[in-house]
Amino acid sequence: MIGSTEDDPRKAELFELSRRLLDRRPLIVGSNRGPLEFYLTPEGVLQPRRGSGAIVTALSSLTRSFSFSWVASAMGEGDRRASEGSGGQSIQSPLPNQNVSLRYVITPRRMYHKFYNILCNPLLWFLQHRMWSPPFTPNIDSVVYDAWETGYKPVNQAFAEGIISEAGEKGASPLVMLHDYHLYLVAEMVREQVPDALIYHFIHIPWPAPDLWQLLPAYMRSSVCRSLCNADLVGFQSTWDVNSFLESCRLFVEGAEVDFNQGIVKTNGRETKVRAYPTSIDVEEVRRIATSPRALNYEQRLQQLCGEQTLIRVDRAEPSKNIVRGFRSFHIFLEQHPEFHQRVKFLAFLVPSRTHVKQYERYQEEIENVVRGVNNAFGSETWTPIQVIYENNYTQALAGMRLYDVLVVNPLADGMNLVAKEGPVVNTKGGVLILSEATGAFEQLKIGALAVAPADLQGTAQAIYEALSMSFEERIRRNQILIDAVSNENATHWLLSQMRELESISQQR
Ligand code: G6P
Repeated sequence: MIGSTEDDPRKAELFELSRRLLDRRPLIVGSNRGPLEFYLTPEGVLQPRRGSGAIVTALSSLTRSFSFSWVASAMGEGDRRASEGSGGQSIQSPLPNQNVSLRYVITPRRMYHKFYNILCNPLLWFLQHRMWSPPFTPNIDSVVYDAWETGYKPVNQAFAEGIISEAGEKGASPLVMLHDYHLYLVAEMVREQVPDALIYHFIHIPWPAPDLWQLLPAYMRSSVCRSLCNADLVGFQSTWDVNSFLESCRLFVEGAEVDFNQGIVKTNGRETKVRAYPTSIDVEEVRRIATSPRALNYEQRLQQLCGEQTLIRVDRAEPSKNIVRGFRSFHIFLEQHPEFHQRVKFLAFLVPSRTHVKQYERYQEEIENVVRGVNNAFGSETWTPIQVIYENNYTQALAGMRLYDVLVVNPLADGMNLVAKEGPVVNTKGGVLILSEATGAFEQLKIGALAVAPADLQGTAQAIYEALSMSFEERIRRNQILIDAVSNENATHWLLSQMRELESISQQR
């Protein structure tokens, strides 16, 4: 099976290609959340740990094999202290397998609050996940105008300055890899100062159709698109996102010439390629963590919480993940199938997220209400139908995923969703994946999964019934399809396709 063994030949090709490219062009990665974060222990000691988030996982094979710079926000008090401790200089990551020199971008707390809690999440995140409700929200008032001017723009400027300084220190024209919606304005700022940089921006979240972008003031949406057109390559999760972006450039960037067949935007004599690279996981690494002694210890404990059959979900506590509808569907399922009472349990591993954004606070309350509702309606002294484990603990979540009969992944919109890929490769029970059609992962996994439309409560309840009643042979057959699909298009495949394109653009320069 390609990709799931040590000797995946693509690894050697990726290594060679990256070495050739990075020998000529020093790599500088920019993302809001870095590969490393510092936290303060209760005794006040500063400790490093691996940064959470899909970007760190996606780039882990690069961080293991090459040394490069990473520019990221100091997100908490620990990061700020660590940066002060190093006199504002870059910090060499003390973690194993991270040859990264980390430069923290430190901005005033108020500025960062406007950037993160007003502009990025919710405004851009909600827009790109189609979570605004146009008759009522968003309301782009003077607070948002101000957050754009004195939050989003200056934080992007600070990132650009960090990257430009790194580029100056390296001396050669760099490969700048930018990630996600936090940094839309950086490409243009870097291009002005480092004209010969090779700039790549990968966007992990959906890019909606232009009519949604039209909810934003013209100057905001055109600034975003114009800046991205300063990159040499812009990457998305799916071809759907690519087409929406090309159409947005045609409409919002003055003078842009868009070639839809070739996936190219021309602006000011410069060419930007636009491509889809669906993100994936490092199958061996995920399996290694899921079978580590620590994970096996969690697994033993979690077994006590399982039912005769067990549904599992793993998400950030995040409105786009559609957690509340997932539980409501479970409610309907229990109403319609009393024969499953006492026998089935739903374990949810939820990671606290963006807790200072009011939409997230409210959503958290909704989750608690619906869980209470189900448990009060159906539970008994010996049976709690839903149990929520609210903690940021990746190893524990992977341990949980070994135990599911059904994995519920039902987002409203999701760039990719890596849980849908992690689950099948660690699961030991030939479990069934229920997957929303609105995830990027659906394109690759639909033949092995049970599809649901995210708002379809009745359909999701039926899918739960179908999954729990499926024959063992059919479960195994479907699970194997999923494992093969994930192993074929794994993280190596993801990086390799981008590196090939970057190498070819670099040679044409
Ligand atoms: C998504 C985004 C990432 C982000 C992560 C966690 O995966 O694409 O850019 O880092 O969510 O969100 P947070 O706001 O906690 O960094």
